[in-house]
Amino acid sequence: MSTKAITGNEQKTIFELSSAGRRGMRYPKCDVPETELLEGLLRDELPMPELSEADVVRHFTNLSELNYSLDNGFYPLGSCTMKYNPKIDEKLSRLDGFMNIHPLQPIETVQGSLLLMYELQGMLQRISGMDACTLTPAAGAHGEFSGVKTIAAWHEAQGHDKRKVMLIPDSAHGTNPATSAMSGLIVKPVPTDGRGNIDLEKLAPLCNDELAGIMITNPNTLGLFDEHIVEVNEMVHKAGGLVYGDGANMNALLGIARPGDLGFDVMHFNLHKTFATPHGGGGPGSGPICAKAFLADYIPGPVACVLEEETDELPPLYGLKMPEESMGQVRSFWGHFGVMVKAYVYILMEGEEGLRRVSEYATLNANYLMASLKKVYPLPFDRPCMHEFVLEGKLPDAPEVRALDIAKRLMDYKFHPPTNYFPLIVHEALMIEPTETENKQVLDAFIDAMLAIAKEAGEDPQLLHDAPLTTPFGRMDEVKAAKDLIITE
Ligand SMILES: Cc1ncc(COP(=O)(O)O)c(C=O)c1O
Repeated sequence: MSTKAITGNEQKTIFELSSAGRRGMRYPKCDVPETELLEGLLRDELPMPELSEADVVRHFTNLSELNYSLDNGFYPLGSCTMKYNPKIDEKLSRLDGFMNIHPLQPIETVQGSLLLMYELQGMLQRISGMDACTLTPAAGAHGEFSGVKTIAAWHEAQGHDKRKVMLIPDSAHGTNPATSAMSGLIVKPVPTDGRGNIDLEKLAPLCNDELAGIMITNPNTLGLFDEHIVEVNEMVHKAGGLVYGDGANMNALLGIARPGDLGFDVMHFNLHKTFATPHGGGGPGSGPICAKAFLADYIPGPVACVLEEETDELPPLYGLKMPEESMGQVRSFWGHFGVMVKAYVYILMEGEEGLRRVSEYATLNANYLMASLKKVYPLPFDRPCMHEFVLEGKLPDAPEVRALDIAKRLMDYKFHPPTNYFPLIVHEALMIEPTETENKQVLDAFIDAMLAIAKEAGEDPQLLHDAPLTTPFGRMDEVKAAKDLIITE
């Protein structure tokens, strides 16, 4: 492997490639009377590169190849479920009848799309064990906000003025406390016990008459299924609180356990993680919420419904309605419809058995990696994991090497790094989620890379501090890269 640092200077900008007089196409001589362009339309000070068509195509193709993506390789970014998404989902979401419609069209002209939404709501209810669903929230965090607001609205309707506290386990994703606080609730943390569960002893005194609810991610961000989940939910219910489920980790539970059966009252799905559509990457997401029947009137809308039942002559008429006590819309129009189409196609293609297999393989792959890597990397919570697990990036014989160094060195081995420094309760966290779409050869190659890096860490720690050495850009100043982003050069 080359150890030469590539600084990025080799990649010329389109202006550096420009050469005066070079052009992509030549127009025939003008054979109509010339007219002046409207004043102000031409900007003399606007520099334009001068290139041939081939220069432009090669420039952008080369740039695109600098990207690392799911279509290039393994992407074990914990908590993000970066699975390979079948191309057919993309293709069908671009069908004319789905793509070129407008939410203000008369409903009679978009019956197919409304039927899809209605059926997708039903599928999500069935998968989650819930009774109602709205597809409108735009992402996971937005679903959390909508769900917590639903809980707050229900308490308000019951006259529970004192119930303002939302409990959040200390392993939670940062969006959990953020969305609860944005909903006007008071956030109180609940510690994790030695096995990675919610600490029941610490939870007990928090279950009092100020409790609005608890927000639980199960499996949690350690990749562990809470061994007392039913008991926790019963304790909260007994104290008069409701249970919110952060369903971002549903890739571990499909067809195996339903949050509704475990005592959750309302939850969100990340359609863009669990059911096709990659997480991140700049595209839209979708965070539908599902709720138990007693909350159905309070969820945001609109909700797809049957406006007129089927008759002998006519098919049913699908439409949209706002639940009776709803807080209203949290997103314009219907939500992110394209993501819904991809989820619908994915669920139909997998079917019940396929969905269960997704979660079984996601869990099997994670346990395979965990068992192979824990021999070298410390594993703080050592019990079978679900779809992901968290190692410590702190090796006993290389104390000065950090999780960040290991993650950066993985890029030299052509792997996307795992999530770093989250969850916060694990020191130097390396959170690894292989997903179900990787085969044994890929997993073995990743294990080999991780073990080779551990060896390098002991022999030549500086190599890891300098990594990555083979990528277009070397080690970034992480803060400057985020706070002083220059995207125009
Ligand atoms: C556990 C958990 N909760 C919530 C979210 C928020 O989801 P989103 O990024 O769609 O807002 C994520 C995102 O990955 C997550 O992992």
